[in-house]
This record gives sequence, structure tokens and C-alpha cells, in this order.
Amino acid sequence: MSSVKIVYWSGTGNTEAMAQAVADGVKNAGAEAEVIPVAAASVADLASAKAFALGCPSMGAEQLEEGEMEPFMADLESSLGGKSVGLFGSYGWGNQEWMRDWEERCKNAGASVVNGEGIAFLGAPDDATVSALQDLGAALATLA
Ligand SMILES: Cc1cc2nc3c(=O)[nH]c(=O)nc-3n(C[C@H](O)[C@H](O)[C@H](O)COP(=O)(O)O)c2cc1C
Repeated sequence: MSSVKIVYWSGTGNTEAMAQAVADGVKNAGAEAEVIPVAAASVADLASAKAFALGCPSMGAEQLEEGEMEPFMADLESSLGGKSVGLFGSYGWGNQEWMRDWEERCKNAGASVVNGEGIAFLGAPDDATVSALQDLGAALATLA
């Protein structure tokens, strides 16, 4: 059975809740899901996978969280060619620029962003967003 890794950073739990919804979608589709805080994640694990998900809220000024997620992303970038990547994250007040930049970065590295764009949501995910995240998980399960 294929396994889909969902690597995320979350400070106050919103993006973590989104990660769990993606995992539910993976499992509902009959695959295994691993939800991994980025501090415990390995670039090598993702480099050997065909499809996975990355989650991070908008931090700094429309940036990825700089202590753990940004360095992980920088390390991962050279391994992204040909991968299918699902992106998601919570934000607080901005215009989702961090997500647009993140999508662009993945595409420039040769990855395909699942659904063409990440799932960004203000605050904690609502029911419709949980449903969209579950659909993302199901899509990743078929791609993994
Ligand atoms: C230091 C810091 C910087 C932030 N910068 C932004 C930002 O530039 N744009 C934005 O929309 N939200 C920003 N936020 C809000 C977070 O993205 C928002 O609170 C989000 O829900 C946090 O997700 P989490 O619960 O997964 O940590 C910032 C929050 C913090 C603590």
C-alpha cells in the first residue's frame, strides 16, 4: 500500500488541523498517511516519494516559517523535479502572497502543484476547507 507523507509546520495548530484533514483524505482513499512535523522530517524521504504534501502558515511578512520550514524547503528544492506536491496553510491577514510564492517556487523547481494551487485558509479550517483538504489527500493517494 502506498504511503503519503504530509510534512508541516504549525505554531498555533491551524495548519496542523489542515494536515490532519489531508491525512484523513489519504486514508479514506485506502492509502497510508504519515503526518510529520517538519522538525522530524527528512528531505531524503520526500526525495524518494512521487507525491507528498507540505503545509506551512504565512509567517514573517508573507514568508514560510524561517526557523524550520524555510531551511527544509531550501534543502528539498533540488529534489522537487517531477514530484506532485500538495500545498496548504493557514494565514491571518494577508493576501495569500506567501502561497502564490510557494506555488511558483515548486513549479520553478520542476514539481507539479496538485490542483494547480495550494489550499490557503484564514485561521482554522472550516468544513468546506476540511473537505477540500480531504480531496487533496485522496488525489495524493492516487499519485503516490
Ligand atoms: C510572526 C508571525 C508572522 C505572521 N505573518 C503573517 C503574514 O505575513 N501574513 C498573514 O496573512 N498572516 C501572518 N501571520 C498569521 C498566521 O499565518 C496565522 O495566525 C495562522 O493561522 C497561523 O497558523 P498556525 O496555527 O498553523 O501556526 C503571522 C503570524 C505570526 C505569529
